[in-house]
Amino acid sequence: MPDLTTSYLGLKLKNPLVASASPLSKHVDLVRRMEESGAAAVVLYSLFEEQILHESLSLDHYLTHGSESYPEALSYFPDLDHYNLHPDVYLEHLRRCKEAVEIPVIGSLNGISRGGWVEYARKIQEAGADALELNIYFVPTDPELSGAELEQNYVELVQAVRSQISIPLAVKLSPFFTSLPNMARRFAAAGANGLVLFNRFYQPDFDLESLEVVPSITLSTSADLRLPLRWIAILYGRVEADLALTSGVHTADDVVKAMMAGAKVAMMASELLQHGIRRLVVDGIDGFADAAIRPGRLNRLLAALFNELRAEGVTSLWTRSTTELFNASLRLPASAGAELVDNLIYLRYVELHSQLYRLISVLKMRESGYDPAIHEFRISSEGIAVQPTSESAESILRQALRLASTSPVRRRNRPRS
Ligand SMILES: Cc1cc2nc3c(=O)[nH]c(=O)nc-3n(C[C@H](O)[C@H](O)[C@H](O)COP(=O)(O)O)c2cc1C
Repeated sequence: MPDLTTSYLGLKLKNPLVASASPLSKHVDLVRRMEESGAAAVVLYSLFEEQILHESLSLDHYLTHGSESYPEALSYFPDLDHYNLHPDVYLEHLRRCKEAVEIPVIGSLNGISRGGWVEYARKIQEAGADALELNIYFVPTDPELSGAELEQNYVELVQAVRSQISIPLAVKLSPFFTSLPNMARRFAAAGANGLVLFNRFYQPDFDLESLEVVPSITLSTSADLRLPLRWIAILYGRVEADLALTSGVHTADDVVKAMMAGAKVAMMASELLQHGIRRLVVDGIDGFADAAIRPGRLNRLLAALFNELRAEGVTSLWTRSTTELFNASLRLPASAGAELVDNLIYLRYVELHSQLYRLISVLKMRESGYDPAIHEFRISSEGIAVQPTSESAESILRQALRLASTSPVRRRNRPRS
C-alpha cells in the first residue's frame, strides 16, 4: 500500500484529498460520510461576513457582491433572517462536526471588510477548528477604487484575521489578480500558511421564460482543472505557503496532476455534490414558516431554496403535517409554498373500528399525468406496500363516513326538523 500521507497547513493528513467548502458540510452525517469515504480533511461551508453583520444573505453572497448598485437585483434575495445559518449555529455545527469525526475540520470565513466580524476567526478557533480558510472575494463596482487599494485591503484583512488566531490560516483566492505571484507572496507575508487556488463563483443568469434573475452555479468538470494547475505550477517554490488546488478535481488523474504541479492537497466540491448528496428530506416545512420573521416573504425564501437545491441536482422532499390527523374527508392545509413544488402527495390516517388505516393520494404532479385515485398503503416488516387499486381505500372511506354520520355526537347535534 503506497504511503499517501501528506501535510497541509502543518496538519498531518492520511491522503491529499480534502472535501472543499460546500453545502454538503452543513450536515454532520454527511461530514461523517465524507470521512468514511476517505476524505482526509473537510472544509466547512463558509460563515459569511453578512451573516455576522445580518445585512445580507450568504446564499446569494456570490451574486450580490459588487451588485449593490442594482437594487432590483437585490430584491430577488430572501432575508438572511430566514436562514438558520446564524453565526452561533455555525459555531455549534463546527463543534458537532469536530466531535463526529477524527479528520481535521477546517472552518471557513468569508468577508472583505475589516470590521468586528473578524473576531469570528477567533470564535471558530475556540469552537475547535483545526485551521481556518479565509475566503475573500469582492467584485468592485466603484470606478474610483483602484486595484492597488483593493489588494492592500485584502492584505490587511489577512493580517487582521491572523492577529485573531493561532491555528493555521489558509487564504482562498479568486483567479482575478493582475499579478498573482506578487499577491501570493504578500498573503504569505501577512500570515497565510496556505493558499487555496481557486474559488468558483455563483454568476447571476437571466431566466428568459420568467424574465427573472436566477442564481446559477455550474458545477465544474475536469477541464476546469487547468487554470489552478497552471498557477500552482507557477507559484510552487516561489511562495512560502502550502498550496491547495480547488476547481475541477473529479478523478484520480486530476489529483495526481494537482500533486505534480506542486499542490499539497486536492480539494473537491462539484464531484461530491454531483455524486454525493442526491436527496434531501426536510421533515416539517412548518419549522421554516414558524421561524420566519417576515412570513410574507416565506414563499420567496422557499423559491430561492428550491432553485438552489435543483441547481445542485438535489431532489428534496418536504413534509407538512395537518392538524386533521384522523379524517375521512380530504381537506388541504392552507399551505405555504404549495404552488412552488413540483409534486404534492397527501398522506393521511383514517380511524375505523379502532384501527388506523393509511391513505395516499397524489394531489399534483407538474407536467405529468398521474393517477388521481386514493390508495391505501400499509407499512409492515416487508416494507411499504401501496394497494394496486383504490378499492380498499374506498371501502375504508365509505365506512368512516357512514360511521361519522351516524355517530351519537353527530346525531345529538343534528337540528330537529
Ligand atoms: C454549491 C456550492 C457552494 C459552495 N460554497 C462555498 C462556501 O461556502 N465557501 C467556499 O469557500 N467555497 C464554496 N464553494 C466553492 C467550493 O469549495 C470549491 O472551491 C469550488 O466549487 C471549486 O471546486 P470544484 O471544482 O471541486 O467544485 C462552493 C461551491 C459550490 C458548487
